[in-house]
Amino acid sequence: MKRSKIAGMGFYVPERVVKNEELTRLMDTSDEWIRERTGIEERRYGRKHEETTSTMAAIATRIACERAGIEPEEIDFIVFATLSPDYYFPGCGVLVQRELGITHREAGALDIRNQCSGFVYGLSIADQFVRTGMYKNVLVVGSEMHSMGLDFSTRGRNVTVIFGDGAGAAIVQPSEDPERGILTTRLHSDGTYAEKLSFINPGCHGGYHRNRLDEPVDYGYPPADTYGEIFITPKMLQDGLYYPYMDGQFVFKLAVQKFPEVILEALQDAGLQPSDINLLVPHQANLRISQFVQKRLGLRDDQVWNNIQRYGNTTAASIPIALCEAWEAGKVREGDLVCLAAFGSGFTWASALIRW
Ligand code: COA
Repeated sequence: MKRSKIAGMGFYVPERVVKNEELTRLMDTSDEWIRERTGIEERRYGRKHEETTSTMAAIATRIACERAGIEPEEIDFIVFATLSPDYYFPGCGVLVQRELGITHREAGALDIRNQCSGFVYGLSIADQFVRTGMYKNVLVVGSEMHSMGLDFSTRGRNVTVIFGDGAGAAIVQPSEDPERGILTTRLHSDGTYAEKLSFINPGCHGGYHRNRLDEPVDYGYPPADTYGEIFITPKMLQDGLYYPYMDGQFVFKLAVQKFPEVILEALQDAGLQPSDINLLVPHQANLRISQFVQKRLGLRDDQVWNNIQRYGNTTAASIPIALCEAWEAGKVREGDLVCLAAFGSGFTWASALIRW
């Protein structure tokens, strides 16, 4: 079976730079707090009502197609990863397809909801399809428009300061060289602590899951025997229960455990060592997490790519943006061993090893 490879990449971040200082005018926070705890100095926000998750994805995809030497029309399958879709449904896969003018009926689109590990999961899906010969040009795209769904009051500061907007895309094709391409992908999940990093409204849960794990939360639902249950209640709006929630310390502790674990697992699978890695591109969750992982694996600064300082955490887009940026900077050369690793809400975590 042929290996698959990343034939071209592209990324897009909105023009508007939002420095930490700007956030201090909206909520009780400081540049110093954000830098010290997360490493973030600035992030990008899309142009409201003009740019969306799928339009940013289309820009990144066009660049990736050009670099892969194909027209968007030649894409035969789309894997779209996001937690901030344009619509509740349909998913962004078909929206980016329309945006790119892919009209032939052979194309398929799949939306995946794996948050920060979405891109690596998507890459693994593309790898399976390409290796089995089912598809020749698979688009894997991660894109997020976080700025439309964050709480910009002090109540939401622990989450809001971290996230930024952007998109990254990769075209996955069969590799002609049996030694080069995606060597392995490792995917994991554990739903035990699903709500520790979550965005649960709107949804049909009616409080069910949260009430099993935590103190019951009053969402203001009408009585259970009422038909026409509503997703968003007036109480949710009043209490701001339609924003993302994160237990930061809990997430941090699990992330620093799972990142090294899943990287070492992939290396073992391929019969390689941490020292064989030319470039580790971790999901940009927090600079402190990446530094911890780097130290744990004994990697030098030049073996790890970090750009969270400039873009914040762009969730499903963070790995393709970082990988593409590293490639553009000449940090990914032919024959290099590149390791991708992610951890995020779910919890889900994943890694991929690529011989470039
Ligand atoms: N500005 C100023 N103060 C803030 C703040 C902000 N933006 N956000 C939280 N605080 C305050 C808290 O209210 C708390 O105050 P208190 O001590 O008076 O109660 C204090 O800072 C410490 O909060 P805590 O949540 O314990 O801070 P932390 O050191 O854990 O850092 C995170 C918070 C979110 C930066 C950190 O937990 C983290 O990065 N976690 C992982 C997040 C992550 O990776 N998420 C994405 C996963 S893919």
